[in-house]
Amino acid sequence: MTALRAVIDLDVEGPRINKHLYGHFAEHLGRCIYGGFYVGEDSDIPNEGGIRLDVVEALRALRIPNLRWPGGCFADEYHWMDGIGPKEDRPRMINTHWGDVEENNHFGTHEFMALCEMLGADPYVNGNVGSGTVKEMSDWVEYLTRDGDSPMVRLRKANGREKAWRVPFWGIGNEAWGCGGNMSAEHYAEELRRYATFCRDHGDNKLYRIAAGAADDDYRWTETLMKAISCLGCTREPRNIFQGLTFHYYTVPGPWEHKGSATEFGDDEYYTTLAKAARVEELIAGHSAVMDCYDPHKRVGLILDEWGTWYDVEPGTNPGFLYQQNTMRDALVASVHFDAFHRHADRLVMANIAQTVNVLQAMILTDPDTQELVVTPTYHVFEMNKGHQDAASLAVHLLGDDNAIEVGDRSLNRVSASASVKDGRALVSLSNLHLTEPVEVTLDLRGRVVAEVSGRLLTAPEVAAHNTSGRPDAVAPAAFEVGAVTDGKLPVTLPPHSFATVELALTPEG
Ligand code: AHR
Repeated sequence: MTALRAVIDLDVEGPRINKHLYGHFAEHLGRCIYGGFYVGEDSDIPNEGGIRLDVVEALRALRIPNLRWPGGCFADEYHWMDGIGPKEDRPRMINTHWGDVEENNHFGTHEFMALCEMLGADPYVNGNVGSGTVKEMSDWVEYLTRDGDSPMVRLRKANGREKAWRVPFWGIGNEAWGCGGNMSAEHYAEELRRYATFCRDHGDNKLYRIAAGAADDDYRWTETLMKAISCLGCTREPRNIFQGLTFHYYTVPGPWEHKGSATEFGDDEYYTTLAKAARVEELIAGHSAVMDCYDPHKRVGLILDEWGTWYDVEPGTNPGFLYQQNTMRDALVASVHFDAFHRHADRLVMANIAQTVNVLQAMILTDPDTQELVVTPTYHVFEMNKGHQDAASLAVHLLGDDNAIEVGDRSLNRVSASASVKDGRALVSLSNLHLTEPVEVTLDLRGRVVAEVSGRLLTAPEVAAHNTSGRPDAVAPAAFEVGAVTDGKLPVTLPPHSFATVELALTPEG
């Protein structure tokens, strides 16, 4: 059996892992909002103000830190004033990006803010640059966040909300290079500065303005936006126009026209998927390097506000709804992303998986006929990893000759790992990406004494295993027998295609 050593200095704390790296994304797309989060007040499904209570309960268990809304591509055709006031009076529109279906605007600003309050999540509102106006965006900020008396405050109060909400995160357009307006980077940079100027801080509400960033490895886009607020090599701090800059990266196993099935895939396709997922680290490092040139003190945060697997839709479902199943392979895609996020916690401040319910790499799938809810293998990775939120990152040095799996012209690490420490407890996440071989990893724990150890394991006999209403726990966490620490060494054996967490209670430093 392959044997590796993972050296962890428990007393050498790295950058804080921002809890917002565990963020989420809900777009008006397919059954994410309607049928997913929102069923309407008249539904038989238990709800509060139309919001599904079972979905809220499942997500609260993840401690989801923020929720991005209303898109995505939808954000740049969304006009927020259509989604306020009495539901029966709200104008309808066609959701041209996603299925060409009619949108009745029953889920709007008040419903989204109520959802965030129920989840205990910070709202991340994505404004419309592509087909909107500066005034429209500026008014939305005022409507949401201003107290006292003003035209937008009066309108909000007339719609039943007295107090301003707190909205920390504000997106200025989405994918401006594509569905958000097909702009050049230079043109968007100008728009961004103009829009950001009029997204005001009202009262105590401080907006973290987020610029719509690059696709994949388009470093030129990132550089253009950084140049718009700073200059290469100058000692000035970046101008405080936007505080965060995004990029998007999806794991797509095949070419766009034949992305591949979510559940039926061979060994090669499995490894290709994981190798593509692991590439996220190269992209984070690439965008960070560009930003470092213009912002060496890391005042501007890098944000990956769309990530996850993107397969062909499930047979028989609307191609515009992006509904896909979710297997143990997806769980490993998620764990590999989180390891990379933790390693780049100095620059990467937020990430949002696409998307939370019924779309792409979802946490939750709901049955359109029975309305039953299942949580996915990806959900379990978020839950098992939640102890990393706001913890100090710890470097994990994986030693051993045999950690590489060759995948075409790429090399994939057999074991992916990361660790953190908070409140006297360390959490180590370990993924064995090999399909058929177990691996022994000896944790070489230095610098602190470990008092207690416990472990959890997520795996299934088949890597294509997934949860359905008939078998909701086909992939679910189980206890992981890990033994005791001897002389700082803790050997653990990871089964093939598995994800494990090991929690270490540390004795107080004396
Ligand atoms: O998440 C689905 C879509 O992917 C989003 O709407 C868009 O921003 C991206 O292209």
